[in-house]
Amino acid sequence: MLYTKHVPVMINEVDNYLINKRNGLYVDCTLGDGGHSGYLLNKYPHLNILAFDWDEDSVKAAKNNLEKYNNRITVVRENYKNIGSVVKSLNINYVDGLLIDLGASSNQLENTDRGFSFKSSVLDMRMDARLSNDAKDLLNNLDEERLSDIFYKFGEERFSRPIARLIVQERQKQDIVSGNQLSSIVIKAKKNKNSKIHPATKVFQALRIAVNGELRNIEEILKIIPDILTSGSRVVILSYHSLEDRIVKVDFRENHKNGKYKLLTKKVVCPSAEEVDKNPKSRSAKLRAVERL
Ligand SMILES: C[S@@+](CC[C@H](N)C(=O)[O-])C[C@H]1O[C@@H](n2cnc3c(N)ncnc32)[C@H](O)[C@@H]1O
Repeated sequence: MLYTKHVPVMINEVDNYLINKRNGLYVDCTLGDGGHSGYLLNKYPHLNILAFDWDEDSVKAAKNNLEKYNNRITVVRENYKNIGSVVKSLNINYVDGLLIDLGASSNQLENTDRGFSFKSSVLDMRMDARLSNDAKDLLNNLDEERLSDIFYKFGEERFSRPIARLIVQERQKQDIVSGNQLSSIVIKAKKNKNSKIHPATKVFQALRIAVNGELRNIEEILKIIPDILTSGSRVVILSYHSLEDRIVKVDFRENHKNGKYKLLTKKVVCPSAEEVDKNPKSRSAKLRAVERL
């Protein structure tokens, strides 16, 4: 099993856009290893955090990494889209800011037992093991049209139809159960079209989004956020592909027009060349921030 510690992305920018009240209560919706939360708890000794992550391994790792701050952080293993009921059950009326660092962590992506990678011997991809369908279930059971839709909508994959067709043909011979098997099918269906990225990148991204309902989760939390903020509270969202960023951009603009948000980032903010150099995984990050009016 490979294990690489996740490096928190755009940490100074997150700090600058998010923290408006040094002794406030903030929500980290995507705790992961606790990189962003740990930085903020260390820098602001009177800050408190309510943190969410639905992945058991991430919760364990973060609790371990943040042990010395355990009187200032509450960790909940829950889908962040359920934030409304969680803050209610904790008698919290409003929070001073909220961070969402979308996508999967390096630990999830690089752990071959989790099935996110081309080399995985399994095709799981669930960030939360309590989710009912994994990637293998979708690949072996959905019809050709539904598979093609997933690759097209969630991966923007131009060859979605021939890939879906070949998957359906191949699975009649044997179930598709490994990353290697799926990669070879995609490569065969694309007839080795040249590309800078691995030919199966978009298909893997699409499956991950479908398995975890990633876009739906973002849409749902965005609807709830304005109601748990007070005037001056901030929201910072880091996204890693255009589908996520588009949803965030549209929501922030609409709430700006209807008088709920002030846009703190008129244009999307990207990591510095220096950060991308040090942490190449940060290169696709896009940060947007707003303040509740
Ligand atoms: C990019 S990582 C966060 C890394 C973290 N900011 C750090 O610096 O260590 C994203 C995390 O969000 C979690 N996550 C993704 N979608 C989620 C959801 N809907 N509810 C709760 N956690 C989620 C994943 O399990 C993963 O651990």
